[in-house]
Amino acid sequence: MKIELRDLVKRFEKAEAVRGIDLMVDDGELVAFLGPSGCGKTTTLLTIAGIYRPTGGEVVFDGQVVNRLAPKERNLGMVFQSYALYPHMTAYQNMTFPLRLKKIGEDVTRPRVERIAEMMGIAELLERRPGELSGGQQQRVALGRALIKEPDALLFDEPLSNLDARLRLTMRTEIKRLQSQLGITSIYVTHDQVEAMTMASRVAVMNEGRLESFLSPDDTYDRPPTVFVATFVGNPPMNMFEVEVAEESGQFVARRDGIAVPVDRERGAKAAAHDGSLLLGVRPEDVRFAADGVLGEVVAVEPLGREDLIDVETNGELIRLLTAPEVRPSLGDRVTLELDPQTLQFFEPSSGRSVLWN
Ligand SMILES: Nc1ncnc2c1ncn2[C@@H]1O[C@H](COP(=O)(O)OP(=O)(O)O)[C@@H](O)[C@H]1O
Ligand SMILES: [Mg+2]
Repeated sequence: MKIELRDLVKRFEKAEAVRGIDLMVDDGELVAFLGPSGCGKTTTLLTIAGIYRPTGGEVVFDGQVVNRLAPKERNLGMVFQSYALYPHMTAYQNMTFPLRLKKIGEDVTRPRVERIAEMMGIAELLERRPGELSGGQQQRVALGRALIKEPDALLFDEPLSNLDARLRLTMRTEIKRLQSQLGITSIYVTHDQVEAMTMASRVAVMNEGRLESFLSPDDTYDRPPTVFVATFVGNPPMNMFEVEVAEESGQFVARRDGIAVPVDRERGAKAAAHDGSLLLGVRPEDVRFAADGVLGEVVAVEPLGREDLIDVETNGELIRLLTAPEVRPSLGDRVTLELDPQTLQFFEPSSGRSVLWN
């Protein structure tokens, strides 16, 4: 099923949670809603589910406006952070509960449960009650309960937040595998960028009730259309400082006092076409030590295992870089940095919009 939002607005008495969102989720696609706490992800999801009425705009399923349909008239499966299983029922009874409500008989439910439990590796656990299951197993049962109804779409709201880091890793792979196997259109709400980037074919980055970008994970990372997207996605975040870009004897250069950074032709030309200063963005993995470039002093060294995170102070700017541990400098070392000219981002300071990708 296709899910479309047309200029969706949701206002509460004291908050404008959703401020005009347009997007289309394709049939069978998994889209992530990613953004900081309070940006309107859950409100958008609950409006799609019909639990909230939109203040403005439309929710559209396969071309039909469904604003007036009650939640139970929308054939959706939902999975939340809290598993919301009935403690006195077995896993089997929890999973079949939605079907029993619809008076669907055991002859139909039993094979369905067995097939889904098999897919999720919980076939042996069906007679246990939630209290006898781990968090991960309970979340599998909750997912199973959502799938049992054979929904037209699945809505997830931070389903893995209660699980420990290792289990989150396996569960996100499992959910993704199951989703693509079944081909169920899915919306996956999370504030965890790694989850969003690894699971979704497109990521809707939200900020203060608005859609900042709706792109593939690679484009979200490599071609961020706004400063918000550039700095929210990526850890540690993108370095950002003000520069002026101009062409100097055939080479584009981004300058601020004491700093001169070469820029590749394509990006430089677009940046130089703008009057006044711009924000230059560069990711920590695109900065390296080099024979010449930007001079600075090492003010922090954080070993992260696979790589080191180094803070370099240069003319009042802090530039962070990720480097191989083999080249670890010492605090106070004078170093020279090269910023990969082909990865530089440029944003218009007042609007925060990219001058490269808009
Ligand atoms: N039921 C509600 N009543 C009033 N305000 C709400 C309600 N639900 C959410 N809000 C407000 O709407 C904004 C968005 O919340 P929410 O959609 O829960 O964000 P997220 O899921 O991205 O953390 C917040 O400012 C929140 O306080
Ligand atoms: Mg939420």
